[in-house]
Amino acid sequence: MPSEADPNLIVYFGGQYVPLREARVGILTHALHYGTGVFEGIRAYWDDAGNELFLMRPLEHFQRWKQNCGILRIDVPASPEELCAITVELLRRNEFRTSIYVRPLAFKCAERVGVSTDEQDAFAVVALPFGDYLNSEDGLHAGVSSWRRIQDNAIPARAKICGAYVNSALASDDARRNGFDEAILLNENGHVAEGATCNLFMVRKGRLITPAVTENVLEGITRDSVIELAKRELGLDVVERAIDRSELYECDELFLTGTAVGIAPVVRVDHRPVKEGAIGVVTREIRQLYFDASRGRLRACRKWVVPVCPVRQEPEAPADLPAETVEAMPV
Ligand SMILES: Cc1ncc(COP(=O)(O)O)c(C=O)c1O
Repeated sequence: MPSEADPNLIVYFGGQYVPLREARVGILTHALHYGTGVFEGIRAYWDDAGNELFLMRPLEHFQRWKQNCGILRIDVPASPEELCAITVELLRRNEFRTSIYVRPLAFKCAERVGVSTDEQDAFAVVALPFGDYLNSEDGLHAGVSSWRRIQDNAIPARAKICGAYVNSALASDDARRNGFDEAILLNENGHVAEGATCNLFMVRKGRLITPAVTENVLEGITRDSVIELAKRELGLDVVERAIDRSELYECDELFLTGTAVGIAPVVRVDHRPVKEGAIGVVTREIRQLYFDASRGRLRACRKWVVPVCPVRQEPEAPADLPAETVEAMPV
């Protein structure tokens, strides 16, 4: 679990860059009582080799955020491109040289009692140093939850609505208390939907299979990246369809995908090994491809990454200038 954030971090709130300790909301804020907020999760990966920080698909995340906000009629007065620029500036101001999780949050901000919404909206973008969300290096043990995934006609799972994450919190708390690393939720039809904070893929009979977007899942951006990588780089047949619970017990490989979890292999489900109980070949390949893509190392996926730090050219010291003069030169 990540530790508490440094109060001196710079965040974007109320249209300004301010220290985290100054970005405060009141106790009567509508979203705090009724869950009327929409959030995002974006990764920026630090690449030691290239001395560079790469934002992973920020434009797609901000496009999804704005669309999701539309469901709750929350207005974010900036375009996805402007939000990307705000985020790049935020990362630069914090001078991060490590991997980062970016958390945009838009919410109903009226300070009053009463569930009906109005037009008072606010948004913030916070960026924090962030390592692994789940330790999945050797594979996870996942458990099918007794909690069902929320239905589209109750709270749409395709939107990252704050209140909807009570569903994920209940399932993941239960899973951990029952000794599992992560929960897998079924939808009301009894089909596999997704993990508490991630999408799900299985390999069965040579095909990569994931629940369709109409199965009450978040339309994950990592899911989309994996589909593209699997088809283009591995030539795999990718199928989006309903998955039965018992297929989890018979599949050849299983893995979870998400901005926070990355590509997380599952080697046991409900106390049953997935195949031999080891990480499968396809999962390993996808994990490596995703790693490379998110650090700008895959030419075909360069479109996904936005470099944050300008490449700094250290000036060559002209032979007749003293060292202090060179240090003072702008880079
Ligand atoms: C419920 C749920 N499903 C799936 C995902 C994966 O989505 P993405 O890959 O866009 O992070 C997330 C995380 O954002 C999530 O919270």
